[in-house]
Amino acid sequence: MEGKRCAVVTGSYKGIGFETCRQLALSGIQVVLTARNESRAAESVEKLKESGLSNVLFHQLDIKDPSSITRLVKFVETHFKKLDILVNNAAEGGVIYLNEKKFKDGGGFVQVLDENVHLLTGVMEQTYELGQECLKTNYYGTKGITEAFVPLLQLSNSPRIVNLTSSFGDLHWFHNEKLKEELEDIEHLTEERIDEIIQWFLKDLKADKLQENGWPLTASAYKVSKAAVNAYTRLMARKFPNILVNCVHPGYCVTDITSNTGFSTAEEGAKGPVMAALLPNDGPSGVYFSQTEITPFMIAKRSM
Ligand SMILES: NC(=O)c1ccc[n+]([C@@H]2O[C@H](COP(=O)([O-])OP(=O)(O)OC[C@H]3O[C@@H](n4cnc5c(N)ncnc54)[C@H](OP(=O)(O)O)[C@@H]3O)[C@@H](O)[C@H]2O)c1
Repeated sequence: MEGKRCAVVTGSYKGIGFETCRQLALSGIQVVLTARNESRAAESVEKLKESGLSNVLFHQLDIKDPSSITRLVKFVETHFKKLDILVNNAAEGGVIYLNEKKFKDGGGFVQVLDENVHLLTGVMEQTYELGQECLKTNYYGTKGITEAFVPLLQLSNSPRIVNLTSSFGDLHWFHNEKLKEELEDIEHLTEERIDEIIQWFLKDLKADKLQENGWPLTASAYKVSKAAVNAYTRLMARKFPNILVNCVHPGYCVTDITSNTGFSTAEEGAKGPVMAALLPNDGPSGVYFSQTEITPFMIAKRSM
């Protein structure tokens, strides 16, 4: 087992993560499929086995739980002695649907624009608690597992980190010009400053000051979390020049996080992360892939 390239995919018993595991396994990678609920992970691995893929193992993982991260790192160290690919896929949406039918009838996430904030009242709601959990998972969880795996990634000849992001992480959705400049200025940005920005956002979310301070008004925590993931990706790429660290927007896919709305399947959505996981050693680092195409981090206007 030690000779084979090995990948860990977070939050991967369903959706794009599951498809990423399947496509990586088809490429001959030894995959560790993970889920918060161990029996769900086991069932998904069984499904892959039935389809003829025997190079997938499962392990429990909650990226919000440091002891769960430590157990997974130990498991990978024991079985493979190193890690070649980490796909940070796990995320949550930070919203609840009050009227899912209306949300779907209105076009799903295509309507999640700040100018429609009044139309989403009674349809989709973001609370402080959901926002806080969203940032804990999407940003701090991603950061926690990445830091924990860096030593094992450093033992690989071709280390890759793939962070699932979203077009919702584009700074286009932010209305505070100074903050946008700060998050774009990777030369001067620090992890400590990202933390301060997140704490500032959460304070404003609690105090109902999103508009006043120029934050995104719809799916706000999710947008802030993915903007933070983008910035973190660029900082990590600079900090670890021997690791290819990139982020990928999978496209708008029909999965649970989108309430099963979207333009693409999870199978199509997984193509970008799989490509970024299998980049050759002279591939790019610190870039944003929109599906499989390199795209600027901030563009004038994106649709989901
Ligand atoms: N679908 C889209 O259109 C779209 C667009 C842009 C970006 N993305 C990104 O693509 C990635 C995959 O999402 P998806 O569309 O496949 O949605 P999904 O089917 O809802 O998958 C999300 C996964 O994350 C897991 N997860 C949540 N919190 C976790 C935690 N604390 N620890 C471990 N796992 C956790 C979920 O498990 P539980 O069931 O246990 O919560 C689930 O397996 C996400 O990063 C998402 O932001 C998706």
